[in-house]
Amino acid sequence: MRVLVTGAGGRLGRVVLPRLRDEGWAVRATSRRARTGASEEWVVVDLATGEGLTEAVAGVDAVLHLASSPNRGRRTHAVDVLGTRRLVVAAGQVGVRHLVYVSIVGVDRVPIPYYRHKLAAEQVVAAGPVPWTVLRATQFPEFLDDMLRGASRLGPVLGDPAVLAQPVDPAEVADRLVRRLAAGPLHGIEEYGGPEVLRFDAAVRAWNAARRSRRPLLPVRIPGKTGRALRSGGLVTEATPTGARTWADHLADTYGGTGAR
Ligand SMILES: NC(=O)c1ccc[n+]([C@@H]2O[C@H](COP(=O)([O-])OP(=O)(O)OC[C@H]3O[C@@H](n4cnc5c(N)ncnc54)[C@H](OP(=O)(O)O)[C@@H]3O)[C@@H](O)[C@H]2O)c1
Repeated sequence: MRVLVTGAGGRLGRVVLPRLRDEGWAVRATSRRARTGASEEWVVVDLATGEGLTEAVAGVDAVLHLASSPNRGRRTHAVDVLGTRRLVVAAGQVGVRHLVYVSIVGVDRVPIPYYRHKLAAEQVVAAGPVPWTVLRATQFPEFLDDMLRGASRLGPVLGDPAVLAQPVDPAEVADRLVRRLAAGPLHGIEEYGGPEVLRFDAAVRAWNAARRSRRPLLPVRIPGKTGRALRSGGLVTEATPTGARTWADHLADTYGGTGAR
């Protein structure tokens, strides 16, 4: 069985590829630039233009769609919504039997532009000709870590203390995706989150402790519907099973220990 993986060189793609190989899939991987790999075939695909798509879907049984262009406005629309439509149409024309799309918990509740595009892409997948599954995952800890670094560029960590997050390890999301791919089309949406729900202020405390840093949290209440959605659990899920690796595990791996002082 051959699977096409879009966005295969990204954070999630990198941990998905070895798992697919271990499960016996022949893997064709896409990137916008030419790449080579020992155990997968790389093809050049640009979802914003459709370049390479016809060749990429030829002879594949399934598609794992990970490619995305977050937070880039019109570019996000061109890649995530129109690009997903191009992919779905191309896959339908060659009789692909299952398309798995990775989305984000909260795309239907938190009204930020990137999420609107992800939700529209889910709808494209569901309305398309290829039997489908959507897996919505919560935020990866690396994303939260990057965000905290960005939010503390000026010294204190700027953020809304009451926002709730549920970080999930991308390797565990990869395991779930590979299992979903093998299980066949769900014709529905599954959610998958990390093992614990954290308030932003607690996440910052653990982050500071792991980095032996004393950056104070400067509370900035996120206004409007977005703020309300983020504080009332728009990014978290009660779905089970969950991943097992915690924010503290990520911090220990990345910074060598938590609560060290
Ligand atoms: N990060 C999170 O916390 C999180 C949480 C839940 C779900 N997700 C979802 O998981 C998926 C993967 O996330 P990630 O963190 O692995 O993202 P990532 O590291 O940014 O990887 C996304 C990949 O998309 C590809 N891409 C961008 N523009 C493209 C275009 N025009 N045509 C074709 N490919 C294009 C890029 O590949 P090349 O540069 O090689 O072309 C990039 O490596 C996304 O759909 C995201 O929404 C992410």
